[in-house]
Amino acid sequence: MTTSGKPASFEVRILRQDAPGEPSRWERFRVPYETDMNVISVLQKIAANPRTIDGRDVAPVAWESNCLEEVCGACTMVINGRVRQACSALVDQLLADRPGEIELRPMSKFPVYRDLVVDRQRLFRSLVRVRAWLPIDDYSDRGPGPRQSQAEQEQAYPLTECMSCGCCLEACPQFQKVDLSEYGEGTSDEQRNAAFDRSFLGAHAISQAMLFNGHPIGKTSAAERLDALMAEGGIQVCGNAQNCVAVCPKEIPLTTSIARAGRATTIHTIKKFFDH
Ligand code: SF4
Ligand code: SF4
Ligand code: FES
Repeated sequence: MTTSGKPASFEVRILRQDAPGEPSRWERFRVPYETDMNVISVLQKIAANPRTIDGRDVAPVAWESNCLEEVCGACTMVINGRVRQACSALVDQLLADRPGEIELRPMSKFPVYRDLVVDRQRLFRSLVRVRAWLPIDDYSDRGPGPRQSQAEQEQAYPLTECMSCGCCLEACPQFQKVDLSEYGEGTSDEQRNAAFDRSFLGAHAISQAMLFNGHPIGKTSAAERLDALMAEGGIQVCGNAQNCVAVCPKEIPLTTSIARAGRATTIHTIKKFFDH
């Protein structure tokens, strides 16, 4: 401990894995303390001197990051037991909560590529399943789009902040890891997507379906999004545990979106019944 009350150094425990499907192992590193560090700068320090506490020289730890301002979601990992972004996880705060040690592990609901880097394809596949886009397929000048009221904009804006980070999926008891081992080596994209399409969509995709169904142009494919929400792995799987909303770094009102989606799919079912 220095005279300023800050530690001279701290320990970082990292759950490491060399490649997909390989066993994982813990490695411990000692990092000199500096003011204003975040977990990315801790990982940079380790990369510059990848030597464990017991003196072994090892391969630098792999992680992903991009924006460094909690906008891209790439650096999401489990830090001291809580899923969050490494770029906005400040060392002073982490050491205040758990003196002397920081623990890093990859998200558990996605396959690990290497160390702290995971494969989030399933997260993006869920967005494809609910058609999380506006159905405009060219660059021609169509003039001004339809106006949204102030109230519609206020409802939509928080949902647009989703950065596809995966925190809501990591925390969700209904979002379980998909086992692709039945396909063996060389799983094709079709096999993988078919397996994903049978599994729970996740809160992020339900919320994005509500975002685009509330948009004047998005409304033109609202029925297809509602069909996707009602298909296998859809909103009926949600157990309303509300873990998702508690961990979303963007404070997106996910349970409000899920409740809206529940009402919309009920009305859609009744409408389909009378249309037949
Ligand atoms: S409310 Fe639904 S989506 Fe959110 S954590 Fe619970 S089960 Fe998962
Ligand atoms: S809804 Fe929140 S927690 Fe889930 S992916 Fe989007 S930003 Fe991340
Ligand atoms: S680097 Fe983009 S959210 Fe952390």
